[in-house]
Amino acid sequence: MSSTTPEPRATEPKTAGPGSPESDDAQAPITSVFSGMQPSGELHIGNYLGALKTWVQLQERYPCIFCVVDLHALTQPFEPREMPGRIRDMVIGWLSAGLDPDRCTMFVQSTVAEHAELAWVLNTITPMGLLERMTQFKDKSKRQPENINVGLFDYPVLQAADIVVYRADGVPVGEDQVQHVEFTRDVVGKFNYRFGETFPMPRARLSQAPRVMGLDGERKMSKSLGNQIGLNDSPEEVWNKIAPAKTDIRRKRRTDPGVPEECNIFSYHRFFSSSEQQAWAAEGCRTAGIGCRECKRLVADNINAVLAPMRERRAAIERRPRLVDETLAAGTAKLRPLARETMELVRERLGLPTAERYQPSACRSRSTDPTASSPPSPSGGTGR
Ligand code: TRP
Repeated sequence: MSSTTPEPRATEPKTAGPGSPESDDAQAPITSVFSGMQPSGELHIGNYLGALKTWVQLQERYPCIFCVVDLHALTQPFEPREMPGRIRDMVIGWLSAGLDPDRCTMFVQSTVAEHAELAWVLNTITPMGLLERMTQFKDKSKRQPENINVGLFDYPVLQAADIVVYRADGVPVGEDQVQHVEFTRDVVGKFNYRFGETFPMPRARLSQAPRVMGLDGERKMSKSLGNQIGLNDSPEEVWNKIAPAKTDIRRKRRTDPGVPEECNIFSYHRFFSSSEQQAWAAEGCRTAGIGCRECKRLVADNINAVLAPMRERRAAIERRPRLVDETLAAGTAKLRPLARETMELVRERLGLPTAERYQPSACRSRSTDPTASSPPSPSGGTGR
């Protein structure tokens, strides 16, 4: 290291700290929203309550971009043959849950190359230490010890690029993703401080039901654990899953009183039942006034009431086989120019050539060397 210029870093502003996302809500209003979901295929009520329900509401209030993050999905074991179906099924789930191609933009991450390009740039200002702290990385490394790839480690940087490449400032996520948004804020702070104000500071927006337990009552609802109620399940399937599910262990017999707060089924009431119904179930549980079966019947009916319009939309979507492709193509077409514009700005900030700078045609017209201009160059001869 040369001993000349002093590091101007000493006073780097603390931009993100352990700040709670809520405390920012008093600040500048959100102007645009970005969120993403890994293409896991079929969606379940945990995805709905934790994310989709909020997305559907947000599309009415803000310009929203929703991304199928297929590049992120590469960091976990996957089967290439299954990927197209996983992406497609996920978008069908989105549409049937109520995302409307006329009200929001949906697309597949890998179709806009600037995500990966910007992730590289952000890599170079990201301290290893920040990534080493990420709990999701630690968890996933434990779960797939045979495949701790660099992408898994770098996952939050790509996520940061997703958000800032559209200069989005509102990021609706479940609580498990808050740390990644805080990380994004750190990276944005570092970039803006080092290279000049470029990206707006994004904020996490927590959904109201961030954590939906699976039918086993032990772990978060997840397709890979097989403890889910699918958005695509029929009314019978919903009942057949709810009926045998565990309740509070205190209620061994119909006459044993229980503690609703410790019953997984009651946690579903909180999401799907009216406050009167919740009071009825809680009271009936505590006094053994009702049986678990009655309590489950009500929650199954309420879940089915939420799923009914989704089933209808799904049937309509299936009658329009091109809708998914059209939706995704429109998304990509709309977003590519925006991402490109951001990358141009980033290149300028970094002192890198603009995308056009060394296009062969640009060299020719700029060059004073007569030999360089000799080959006739009709427009359109060089690709782009
Ligand atoms: N990591 C997120 C998840 O697993 C998905 C995601 C990728 C995302 N890029 C994003 C969410 C950008 C919000 C913003 O749920």
